[in-house]
Amino acid sequence: MTKKKAKKPYVKPSISRISFSDSLKFKGKSSASSSFDEIEGYPVKKLTEDFGSPLFVVSEAILRSRYRDLYEAFSKRYPKTTIAYSYKTNYLSGICAVLHQEGAWAEVVSGFEYEMARRLGITGEKIVFNGPYKKPADLARAFSEGATVNLDSYDEFNTAKQVAETLGRPSKVGIRVNMQLNYPAWDKFGFSLEDDRAYDICRQISQNKYLKLTGLHCHTGTFIIDPGIYRRLIENLISLAVKAEKIPGVAISYLDIGGGFASGNTLLSQLMPGQTTSPAPDHYAEAVCDVLNKRANELKNSPALFMEPGRSIVDESMFLLSKVVSVKETASGNRFAIIDAGVNLLPTAYYYKHDVISDREGPAEQVDVFGPLCMQIDVVRRGASLPAPKPGDIITIKNVGAYNFSQSMHFIFLKPAVILLGSGGIDVLRRAETYEDVKGLENIPKRLLKAKSGND
Ligand SMILES: Cc1ncc(COP(=O)(O)O)c(C=O)c1O
Repeated sequence: MTKKKAKKPYVKPSISRISFSDSLKFKGKSSASSSFDEIEGYPVKKLTEDFGSPLFVVSEAILRSRYRDLYEAFSKRYPKTTIAYSYKTNYLSGICAVLHQEGAWAEVVSGFEYEMARRLGITGEKIVFNGPYKKPADLARAFSEGATVNLDSYDEFNTAKQVAETLGRPSKVGIRVNMQLNYPAWDKFGFSLEDDRAYDICRQISQNKYLKLTGLHCHTGTFIIDPGIYRRLIENLISLAVKAEKIPGVAISYLDIGGGFASGNTLLSQLMPGQTTSPAPDHYAEAVCDVLNKRANELKNSPALFMEPGRSIVDESMFLLSKVVSVKETASGNRFAIIDAGVNLLPTAYYYKHDVISDREGPAEQVDVFGPLCMQIDVVRRGASLPAPKPGDIITIKNVGAYNFSQSMHFIFLKPAVILLGSGGIDVLRRAETYEDVKGLENIPKRLLKAKSGND
């Protein structure tokens, strides 16, 4: 008779996060890391020799394909779809121009961004103007050029009334709506759906003879990985539109679902890589268009669908090349590298687990990668899997197109060049800054240059 094994006590299964310090325990068991020494056939080393390091590199092919994937996913389900590219995400003119060639409108949030769009040849009719602060002169320009203006507050409504009255003819406006869809809810922008202010402002606009309500807008967050949020968002906008259209004279011609779609990046808080957790454009499109197609006929006219993506279109199209400038070890023996690009150029390192790859081949180890700033928090990536770094190695940081260039800062270093890799070869989108570009804006009063009396 075989002896029965003693039963092990039941232990409830659990998943625990491996912290960086835990991962150091596996330091000895290295795996080979794949090197990254060229982008679309261009050797990264040569690019930095020719254009300097650090260097931003934009892939035109990736940019166009991310736009097309999103546009096709929505327009094949709901043909009346318009993408207004959210300029603030990255307003390098070359990037905006590529997206306009693809057919994108511009989504802007200030007079400065509005001017950029106009200088790129975009007419007012193809500009969506959002943001919580629009100056009266900017509103006047947007109204007179036929832009889509989404009002953010009662105060802005009052300003808009005055501006429209001065222009002497009715101006079209939409309203920004916020709703409790995610936690924490994005309730800074627009009028609350739940407390009925969204409906109240529709009523107030309809009573003004210089403003005409034409659309509803809701931008409810960024890096939203649950398509269900968009399903509820569009449901709510349609229900509000139906209610608003019961007010005499109101007809809603567009519903704008904002931006917020996730890119292939990975958040610091995510265990699994973004490439596997971020929904594909089809998933977002299915959620939104399914509702629209079922309910659009509840409105007086079939509404246009507007969306304002930023991150999901532009993030993966840009790379940041940088050079290892020194390699050190902490007192506890952890190796770390300092590279010549830090959070001055990469503010998204505060919340993304960026892909950081070396042009050197070799067995990988866990390396912390720091930037060159005089701040302990200048961390590009903790625990990057890299071959033992050496000064001069070229480190490529992937997926840096969203909110890095436009939020980069002049702190300690000047901004580097940005190049575009396109079908016609390499184009410089922005040359590297010089001392004069930055300090030339300043004025030093003559009296401060005089030596203090008594000094030599
Ligand atoms: C009104 C509005 N639309 C669109 C966007 C773009 O968002 P995302 O980059 O997450 O797509 C933003 C970003 O903050 C926004 O404020």
